[in-house]
Amino acid sequence: MAAGQGTRMKSTTPKVLHEILDAPLVHYVISAAQAAGCERTLVVTGHQRDEVEAILPDSVERVYQPERIGTANTVLVAEEALAGAEGKLVVLSGDVPLLRPETIEALMEACTSGFAMTVLTAHVDDPTGYGRILRNEYGGISGIVEDKDATEEQRRITEINTGIYCFELEGLFDRLRKIDNNNAQQEYYLTDIVQICMDEGASVGSITVSDASETLGVNSRVQLAAAARIMQRRINTDWMMAGVTMAAPDLCWIAPDVTLEPDTTLLPMTILSGATKIETGSVIGPDTRIVSSSIGAGSVVDSSIVLYAEVGQRANIGPRAYLRPGCVLEDDVKVGTSVELKGVHVGAGTKIPHLSYIGDAELGAGVNVGAGSITCNYDGHNKSRTTIGDGAFIGSDTMLVAPVTIGAHAATGAASAITKDVPDGALAVERSNQVIVEGWVERHQKAAHDATGKEAR
Ligand code: UD1
Ligand code: CA
Repeated sequence: MAAGQGTRMKSTTPKVLHEILDAPLVHYVISAAQAAGCERTLVVTGHQRDEVEAILPDSVERVYQPERIGTANTVLVAEEALAGAEGKLVVLSGDVPLLRPETIEALMEACTSGFAMTVLTAHVDDPTGYGRILRNEYGGISGIVEDKDATEEQRRITEINTGIYCFELEGLFDRLRKIDNNNAQQEYYLTDIVQICMDEGASVGSITVSDASETLGVNSRVQLAAAARIMQRRINTDWMMAGVTMAAPDLCWIAPDVTLEPDTTLLPMTILSGATKIETGSVIGPDTRIVSSSIGAGSVVDSSIVLYAEVGQRANIGPRAYLRPGCVLEDDVKVGTSVELKGVHVGAGTKIPHLSYIGDAELGAGVNVGAGSITCNYDGHNKSRTTIGDGAFIGSDTMLVAPVTIGAHAATGAASAITKDVPDGALAVERSNQVIVEGWVERHQKAAHDATGKEAR
């Protein structure tokens, strides 16, 4: 269920698109359903439907809820998509991101023969805002009452409805049609189906989740932050158990689709997102953000930003390097202090150690780019490419005015503005001859002193 607006978020972004660890809430719910072995996954969208659908993976089916009139209607609108389907339907909320696949599996198992549905419940210290579980004298579920409709006494119940259910499909939609909106919020409550099952003599089961934090519903930004914190700890603990060192796990943020090989070290303030992969022996951080990139074994990325890059083994990146999208670095590359790269292929063993901007370029293997050298790849209208051959030596502060090609093992003199291609093995120098004026400093200082002396008088 992902059609709601999420009024309490006070946002123009639909609630299920709010992110924890750089992934939208609904992403976690879909992943959990799929990991639990659900055969089909349907996502019901409504509010800002296009924005929500845009981030859904191809593996899910989309269902549209035209009016957000309550959770019973949210399930009912899937009737057509589920026509002819048999078996069980698990209903999850797009705003309950911490639920584990094992919990979904346990809920499905509990919904065995004879049960029309099972509810996942939780015991919490503060039940405010949640629907409360009503039980009969034998301990069976007799109803669910929403917070806004509950009596004072019912509000004191600390067993809550997590909003997660497993239904037997047979008879489900007929029961949903019987639900009315006669309640405090004038909504069609899915929770009312419990009463309808009771009336029909159909049995309702329940299981209680042992770790109540799994069922935290995100309705406000405060709950969003709380969920992010729990997910961060969970993901980091799993990675540490898998052989990753974190100097300060509370200061590392790892998105759900990141992969880390054993013996990776993450230093404080490391943020890894997207489908980033870090190979063994690498040291990442401190103060580093890597988005959807791969980093080869034995690399160091220190205080840098790496976006959509493919980095080979034993790379030495940073401090304060900025790899913008489209970079591929072969093995043993150095991208040093305050170097910015964009759309560059860098050959093995090439070094760009200090203060450079290299954009739209192809650098061969074993190239050395001197400090302060840049590609002038943009003339105000067009972007042009720079090609540098294997083993070339780019003198410090060279301006490579693209389009331009520097041949293999060629060299450029420091401070040259290179506008023409340089053949293999040649030296290109472009600067005026140095002038020496003997004794100039002393004469200049004397003149300055005389001038001030006159003024003082
Ligand atoms: C719901 C439950 C409540 C439970 C709580 C757990 C009902 C009536 N109440 O309340 O018992 O304790 O979840 O978190 O179900 N949605 C739609 N279409 C709609 C309405 C909602 O898709 O017309 C979606 C929302 O986007 C959200 C989910 O359903 O993902 C739950 O809706 P929400 O309004 O957050 O319900 P709660 O008030 O939290
Ligand atoms: Ca909710």
